[in-house]
Amino acid sequence: MAVRHFHHFALGVPDVEAQKTFYEDFGLVGHTSRNVANGNGAILRCVGRDQDQVVLIESRERCLHHLSFGATPEGLADVKRRAEAYPGVQLIDSPNATPYDGIWFSDADGMIYNVHIGEPAPSNGGLVPHASRAPFRANGPGHYDRVNLKGSIDANAKVVPHRLGHLIHFTPDLEAKLAFYRNVLGLVMSDRSEHLIAFLRPPGGSDHHVIATIQDEKVGFHHASFEVDTIDHIGLGGQAMLRKGYRNGWGVGRHALGSNFFWYIRDPHGGLAEYFCDIDYIADDAQWKAKNWPLDVSFYVWGPEPPPDFAQNFEGATKAVKPVAR
Ligand SMILES: [Fe+2]
Repeated sequence: MAVRHFHHFALGVPDVEAQKTFYEDFGLVGHTSRNVANGNGAILRCVGRDQDQVVLIESRERCLHHLSFGATPEGLADVKRRAEAYPGVQLIDSPNATPYDGIWFSDADGMIYNVHIGEPAPSNGGLVPHASRAPFRANGPGHYDRVNLKGSIDANAKVVPHRLGHLIHFTPDLEAKLAFYRNVLGLVMSDRSEHLIAFLRPPGGSDHHVIATIQDEKVGFHHASFEVDTIDHIGLGGQAMLRKGYRNGWGVGRHALGSNFFWYIRDPHGGLAEYFCDIDYIADDAQWKAKNWPLDVSFYVWGPEPPPDFAQNFEGATKAVKPVAR
């Protein structure tokens, strides 16, 4: 059995306050469910969601600290058994900075994983479709799905991400990382693009990807992605972040693999936070066939040209870049 859902991620950062403020400006809220890093850390959640989503730990350099997944009791036992037998994987004690239950282990890359018993919070797309919100209705040629109702939304609406959807990280050995995810965590591949990137999900009903991994010289955090209601909320959220002085990461656009609309904002330590909506959902694993897509059709369908540093690995950054409000 596999892990069932992606629960949270943790970053080490030199300036916890700057990174926390970034996520709060992005729409998350600080939470005090646990004491992380002896008080030199922070936890962020999505509004109305009873689940830690981002954990920040004070660190000399920006680093991907760990990834955490939820599983059933049987799933956890299976993952533990496989982890104990897998080459390069080591069971470790819970790091002092992050007192989460369950098992902890590192892989051959040195990345750290936590798997614990737990169901996703109710709106998590990892187990059930998203919480019911008013569906997006659009009019088109010959199709009037919104009649006698104004389509444009309040320009001052507060954008509220509902859940952490996925995380993408770098790895120095894409094939080994794929084998680890498949053989230890039980994830399945949804799609890949040559020897550059692969997208993975838990089996049994999931977004197209909850984890993706990119070939690079070293491990590192690329981005975390949070679901908002509609393309309007992606636009409003990205616009508000630029007005607050954060740097445009890339957007607005529509991805090819996963199909989600996106807008990425650069965080103070060189990572990216993505607003997304309308990602592909795979309910029946037997009906979905993973493909290996050529690079020139796998990245995005439309959008501005990505900036040159979009796929750069900023792991190891030692300073925070503060926003300059406009
Ligand atoms: Fe993404």
